[in-house]
Amino acid sequence: MRNRRAALAAIASAASLALTLTACGQSSEGGSEEDKGGSDGATIGIAMPTKSSERWISDGANVEKELKAKGYETKLVYGEDDPDQQVSQIENMITQGVDALVIAAIDNKSLGNVLQQAKDADIPVISYDRLILGTENVDYYASFDNSKVGELQGTYIVEKLGLKDGSKKGPFNIELFAGSNDDNNTKYFFNGAMSVLKPYMDKGDLVVRSKQTDLNQVTTLRWDGGTAQKRMDDLLTSSYRSARVDAVLSPYDGISIGILSALKSDGYGSGSKPMPVVTGQDAEVASVKSIIAGQQTQTVFKDLRELAKVASNMVEASLNDKKPEVNDTKSYDNGAKVVPAYLLQPVSVDKSNYEKVLVDGGTYSADDLK
Ligand code: GAL
Repeated sequence: MRNRRAALAAIASAASLALTLTACGQSSEGGSEEDKGGSDGATIGIAMPTKSSERWISDGANVEKELKAKGYETKLVYGEDDPDQQVSQIENMITQGVDALVIAAIDNKSLGNVLQQAKDADIPVISYDRLILGTENVDYYASFDNSKVGELQGTYIVEKLGLKDGSKKGPFNIELFAGSNDDNNTKYFFNGAMSVLKPYMDKGDLVVRSKQTDLNQVTTLRWDGGTAQKRMDDLLTSSYRSARVDAVLSPYDGISIGILSALKSDGYGSGSKPMPVVTGQDAEVASVKSIIAGQQTQTVFKDLRELAKVASNMVEASLNDKKPEVNDTKSYDNGAKVVPAYLLQPVSVDKSNYEKVLVDGGTYSADDLK
């Protein structure tokens, strides 16, 4: 098994061999696999958060595929949304001698100690989709423009309600949901959405009857759909006995499913109570089907195939002491350093464009969505 330290040693010895050869009047062209930046049997540890969501299953498979195509071995583990389990999985991979780590954290602040062990073993770390906080021992961050995800959700709501082009006047009732408070993405999604929604709330065109508008009042631990369903049930009971909810900001498809269940149980989607506008994220199959069926209204598609490519390029560059391509060197301060990032662009998807984006784009077949 090769790690970076071994690679450096190999490069040093190749360099001294080159010197010797040059001294003998011979050329050292051609070089070893090492010089060409090859994988040389290196093994990459991939730690994903949970199998309970389709997207992370795709992420695991995509990252493995990309790394294997570059000649790497892979070890893929899932932490079942348990931060302690994820820490010990990463510890195990370090002990087993992996050469680099790709990590989508469960709790972003729980990895400081284990990443110190990675650093001590000279193992580069790529923070995947979710930024790992509070440690210098994160080399690169591969993700999407997470603020933009929220902006797309907020913009969809104001457009769909007719507020943006002024074709309808408020007030409309809206409720707000956010993701897990231990996920760094949560505040980016929420603040992005609020940057669009807040001006309408300030004008009174959008009204949050529950008055729960602060991020810490609207988070959903571990992005759990059941937790969101319970909160939506409570909101409908406490604030909507004599009024109708017109829109729900949801940051993620699994949460949207919970919200929609609560709405359906309360009679929305039939008779005089149309479904509110409900956003989402990840374009998971169940939610795309729900969009086609006229229940969920929108989702945000993030091309996970591209994310896997970005992450595996970062691995390859790190292991070969090269700098991978990054396109953001200022947005993602993890409290210990600004982590150089490559951010991909998210795309808003609804009934009008899902075929073009998801089917023509090759993410799903038409049959997958039947
Ligand atoms: C976030 C991720 C979202 C969604 C969510 C729940 O970190 O960026 O796309 O998947 O986790 O899994």
